[in-house]
Amino acid sequence: MNKPYSQACENNKAFILPFLADSFTNSRNLLEVGSGTGQHAVHFAENMPWLSWQTSDVINNHQGIHQWLNEYPSVNLFTPIELDLNNPWPITQVDAIYSANTLHIISWPLVQAFFQGVSQHLATAGKCCIYGPFNYQGKFTSKSNANFNEWLKERDSESGIRDIEAITTLAKNAGLSLDKDHEMPANNRLLVFTKLS
Ligand SMILES: C[S@@+](CC[C@H](N)C(=O)[O-])C[C@H]1O[C@@H](n2cnc3c(N)ncnc32)[C@H](O)[C@@H]1O
Repeated sequence: MNKPYSQACENNKAFILPFLADSFTNSRNLLEVGSGTGQHAVHFAENMPWLSWQTSDVINNHQGIHQWLNEYPSVNLFTPIELDLNNPWPITQVDAIYSANTLHIISWPLVQAFFQGVSQHLATAGKCCIYGPFNYQGKFTSKSNANFNEWLKERDSESGIRDIEAITTLAKNAGLSLDKDHEMPANNRLLVFTKLS
């Protein structure tokens, strides 16, 4: 069976890597939420060998992630655990969390559940990096993001590009501070949060 494939992951992984490497310099155990195909995981684990990279996703994506990990194994890369944001997280504590292109896919209550999970499972001083598109002051940052949002809403009315202000408020209530907000290609951002206590 052919592996699932994301062209976006192939396009963005080289741009994201240096920012993750910088943010996760002092991290050891990372949880990825919503690993998707697993393409980010194989690239990032290989290039950040000091990190134990734990993939996760809803069960439907596990087979594809296994296929990518089987073809591109790393000693620091681990097969997916079932993490569905509707349920408690099946981990104790990590010192790094990464999630790409998830917050605009899941419903707002699940975005809230994501930050509750980060608050519960990220160690003090741990880093959380989130990649994806965001709106600023209620506005899309590009016409293509506005079009993308329309496409998302037609597919699932509960999904949609989130306002950065709402995200940082949720994060603050979860004990996280926004350290950096990097501009990325294709109208995306890389948000870097630190867990304060
Ligand atoms: C657009 S994909 C992004 C995948 C990958 N991170 C990437 O950048 O290509 C959205 C991801 O959110 C995950 N997702 C959707 N609902 C979820 C839930 N309830 N719990 C956890 N992950 C969920 C999907 O399974 C998928 O992996």
